[in-house]
Amino acid sequence: MSATCHFRFDQARVLVVGASRAGIGAAIARAFQDAGASVAITGAEPAPAPQDQGRFAYTQLDVTDLVAVTDLAARTDRLDILINCAAITARGEEMAPAFFEHVVNVNLHGTFRTAQAFLPQLKAAKGVLINVASMYASFGSPRNPAYGASKAAVAQLTKSLAIAWAPDGVRVNAVAPGFIVTEQSARSRTDPAHVAAVAARTPMGRWGQPEDIAAPVLFLCSDAAGFMTGTCLAIDGGYSVV
Ligand SMILES: NC(=O)c1ccc[n+]([C@@H]2O[C@H](COP(=O)([O-])OP(=O)(O)OC[C@H]3O[C@@H](n4cnc5c(N)ncnc54)[C@H](O)[C@@H]3O)[C@@H](O)[C@H]2O)c1
Repeated sequence: MSATCHFRFDQARVLVVGASRAGIGAAIARAFQDAGASVAITGAEPAPAPQDQGRFAYTQLDVTDLVAVTDLAARTDRLDILINCAAITARGEEMAPAFFEHVVNVNLHGTFRTAQAFLPQLKAAKGVLINVASMYASFGSPRNPAYGASKAAVAQLTKSLAIAWAPDGVRVNAVAPGFIVTEQSARSRTDPAHVAAVAARTPMGRWGQPEDIAAPVLFLCSDAAGFMTGTCLAIDGGYSVV
C-alpha cells in the first residue's frame, strides 16, 4: 500500500537538505511538492537524481562547509520548514578514526550547522525543523559505530533545540527510520541473509520504502502536530519494539 498524505502546505517554503539521490530526502521533497509546497533541495552531488532534475530548485551543498551553508542561508529569504536528511555511513569502515570523525562531522555537525544557519528564517515563520535520526540512535551498531553515535547525538540535539527554540515558536522533531530501501542501504542489501533477517524480525514483515518516511514527516510539520516538539518518531515497521 502506498502512503497517501492529506496534509496541505500550499503557502509553505520547504528546504530538504540531502535529497539528491532517490532516497528518503527525495521522497519527502516530492510529498511536500505534491502537498502544494514550494520545495528546494540540496545534495553532495553536482545534480539531483535523474527523475528529480528540473523538478526542484537544486543546490550542491557540503554540510561540512560552514561558509557554503551560511551562504545558502543568506540567499534564502523565507523558509517555513527545514528537513535535515544529509548523512553518510560505510558499513565496516567506521572504526578508522579519520573516517569516524568525518561521519560525525557530516551527520551531527552538519545537522547543527544547517539548523543554526536557517534559524532566523524559521523564527520569522514560526517554522518547523525535522532532523532525520535512525533506529541506530538506540541500538548498538558494531559495523557502523560512527553512524550510530552520530544519530544518537542527532536525537539528543533535537531535544535540546526543541527546548531552546520553543519560545520562538519553532518546533523541532526527529524521525527514526528503520531499514529502508535506498542507496545508503545498498551495500548491506547485497547480503541476502541480512535482507531476510531484517524482514523476518520486522513485525510488518518487510523493509521500508522512502515514501513510508515522507507522510509521517509531513504530519510532524503540519498543524496537527502543533503540540509536538522534541520527539523522535520511530518509523520502522515495529522493528525497534521486538
Ligand atoms: N536508508 C536507511 O535504511 C536509513 C535508515 C535510517 C535513517 N536513514 C537516514 O535517512 C536519511 C536519508 O538517507 P537515505 O537512505 O535516503 O540516503 P541517501 O544516501 O540516498 O541520501 C543521503 C543524502 O545525503 C547527502 N549527503 C551525503 N554527504 C553529504 C555532505 N557531506 N553534505 C551534504 N549532503 C550530503 C547525499 O548527497 C544525499 O542527498 C539519512 O539521514 C540517513 O541516515 C536512512
